Amino acid sequence: MIVPGSWSQALSASLATLLDEPLAVPEFDRFPDGETFAAVPPVAEASPDRAVVVAATPSNDAYVELLQLQDALREAGVDEVVTVVPYMGYGRQDRAFEPGHPVSARAVARAVSTGTDRVVLVTPHEASIRDFFDVPCDVVEAAGRLAVPLHALDAALREPLFLAPDDGATEIADAVRDAYGGGETDYFEKTRHSGTEVTVEPSDADVAGRDVVVTDDIVATGSTMAESVAVLRERDAARIFTACVHPLLARSARTRLEAAGVERVYGTDTLERDVSAVSVAPVVADAL
Ligand code: R5P
Repeated sequence: MIVPGSWSQALSASLATLLDEPLAVPEFDRFPDGETFAAVPPVAEASPDRAVVVAATPSNDAYVELLQLQDALREAGVDEVVTVVPYMGYGRQDRAFEPGHPVSARAVARAVSTGTDRVVLVTPHEASIRDFFDVPCDVVEAAGRLAVPLHALDAALREPLFLAPDDGATEIADAVRDAYGGGETDYFEKTRHSGTEVTVEPSDADVAGRDVVVTDDIVATGSTMAESVAVLRERDAARIFTACVHPLLARSARTRLEAAGVERVYGTDTLERDVSAVSVAPVVADAL
């Protein structure tokens, strides 16, 4: 049985179809004081062996809802609860950046571990996050899926360059290039000045007249991608695409990308946005 969190409904449906498992329809509500409520329907088959909660956690409410779904399944007598976290909120807070700071990723991982037998994460910011869970945790790398819409373009990519906006995203660029089946990879040097301000230093790669796909694990405020697109525009790149696994697209990220001159924005259904053109369901299904 696949049990969707309210931020992962399309992905859950795709998984249920791929795995040929029933799709539960949970009940979501909110109490007058703002507290969330998430309940699973009566487990018709009387305590199935396994239930898979699929719940992205882009907000505090999403985390509480995930814990409620896990608990409701335990209460219903399900033997094994597996938790798929397609997008893990707080995942980038994976260390104490200053004395007195929390390791927030570890704090939420511990909470999620209490209600499940196993966790599956999709492209976390750092794979080492898996160690924060108190139950077995598998990491699924979904970046290769981002090649799917690139293959469907009317005009094939011209002398494609798969560009990481910083050296931490080079594995994503390599994965998309490999899945696309050709092209070069390179990376920019990024300096972050604040939560919403970054600058990127171009590499030596000649981008004039070439199609460039800027790849990253996540677009949050859009600062990183918008700055990269602007630099590529200045250097006369032809079409500039952005492709990320997690299209968080907070605040005015989408507008910033358009204003910078992006051709198309691609993301996956780890977060349900209008740019979530690619499903990670096949790679998650393999891990289940
Ligand atoms: C950072 O290391 C990540 O890979 C992303 O580049 C970053 O989190 C994107 O954030 P934003 O969209 O706010 O620039």
